[in-house]
Amino acid sequence: MEYLLGIDIGTSGTKTVLFDRDANPITAKTFEYPLYQEQNGWAEQEPEDWWNAVVQGVQAVLQASGVDVADIKGIGLSGQMHGLVMLDENGEVLRRSIIWCDQRTGEEVEDMNRMLGAEKIIQITANPAVTGFTAAKILWVKKHEPELYAKCAHILLPKDYIRYKLTGEYATEVSDASGMQLMDVAKRTWSDEILEGLGIEKRLLGKMYESQDVTGEVHQEAAALTGLAAGTIVVGGAGDNPAAAIGTGIVSQGKAFTTIGTSAVVYAVSDRMALDPKGRVHTLCASVPGKWTVMSCTQAAGLSLQWLRNHVCAPEMAEAAEKGVDPYEIMTAEAARVPIGSEKLIYLPYLMGERSPHNDPSARAAFIGMSMDSTREDMTQAVLEGVAFGLRDSLEVARSIGVNPERTKICGGGAKSPLWRKIIANVMNMKVDLIESEEGPGYGAAILAAVGCGVFDSVEEAAKKLVKVTGTEEPDSELVQKYEERYQEFKKLYPALKGIYQGKQA
Ligand code: XUL
Repeated sequence: MEYLLGIDIGTSGTKTVLFDRDANPITAKTFEYPLYQEQNGWAEQEPEDWWNAVVQGVQAVLQASGVDVADIKGIGLSGQMHGLVMLDENGEVLRRSIIWCDQRTGEEVEDMNRMLGAEKIIQITANPAVTGFTAAKILWVKKHEPELYAKCAHILLPKDYIRYKLTGEYATEVSDASGMQLMDVAKRTWSDEILEGLGIEKRLLGKMYESQDVTGEVHQEAAALTGLAAGTIVVGGAGDNPAAAIGTGIVSQGKAFTTIGTSAVVYAVSDRMALDPKGRVHTLCASVPGKWTVMSCTQAAGLSLQWLRNHVCAPEMAEAAEKGVDPYEIMTAEAARVPIGSEKLIYLPYLMGERSPHNDPSARAAFIGMSMDSTREDMTQAVLEGVAFGLRDSLEVARSIGVNPERTKICGGGAKSPLWRKIIANVMNMKVDLIESEEGPGYGAAILAAVGCGVFDSVEEAAKKLVKVTGTEEPDSELVQKYEERYQEFKKLYPALKGIYQGKQA
């Protein structure tokens, strides 16, 4: 029997999944780590924590499955996108990683526009300067920690740091690298013009591959630590969203998926590079050669529910601990008792500013419409709905630039909630397909590994053969109508609050 390994470096933890050759999951293990938020809007993680979680995950999966490591034919990596990892010339980590949802770089975004011109940035990188992308984070370190920057010899993304630890190679691939804002996204290469304009040396960046390409082999030291066989190939892999696209079979024009994890994303594939000149959604290289994607990012999706759990839902947490179940199960079951679309509260999910469609690091979350009879159940339902409204905002932008998917697949932790799926189907007025594999990005990464080691000829062929739909959530016309009215109210709230967020007159 032959096997594949998919490793996803998430924000709350790293999930390592062993699959058989036909991508059926055999064993999965997750190891968690902290998120450091030393200032409002900041978010950092320790790259060594990711690596330890990978080592523990691989060891645990190997032990639980008892497979012969020589039968593991390839490894695919996926991970949280945009995070900045800086290494010195010996490959040692120089500082904590500034991760995707960090919003400290408002000034650096303005610097980028001054240095290069906003038009040129969009033209080449396919996106306007964004606080969440890596380039602004690099400029922040350069400005605020010049001594540390002077020691920087390598800049990597989170999953590419794990590649380095496994193989010793400094490399990346197009899907994740296009979220660094240093690429010519149409040409799928680093952009000399952008790098020179921003004063970032190309020698700091990894070698660029397509997602299914073999980028290196597990070296002796990593093999000894993890239990893997030295020489096992590691393919390019993908950012977590492009990897989830592969894992949900979203590999051709017009197809889309929605994921609800820490963040939430609507992701649609296209044969041409469609972009929004206002930058309300992102345009990136897909993990399929010759394809691009329009993708949104709602920064705080699962994160909003986590905030509610930690700060408001102590009784649900206590009940969950007593029953030995997940607190989210109790919270969403309670929310399901409130009639769906009950028009009680509206939640704006901007706990960490917002990327799509507002691109505003100063935005903040709000519950609108609280009254004396508001309950925790109402708040939970409002959070589920608010995230869905945020996704609908982005879908509208995608539609406005000609990317118009007819239905969507769904994945991520949030997809496990039948209530959340139902809300999404009705808010978006689309059929929502549930797929068999629950592994999302790790599954996509393993499929890329299967292509890289020759099990399949192409990513398209692999996705067609492997990804199976198990059920569909159909929109209900009465709820669609209710949510449409509610969405129209939601849409008015950000413009009304923008002036307050930005400290200016509205
Ligand atoms: C996408 C984004 C997030 C992270 C989460 O642009 O920033 O979805 O990839 O892991």
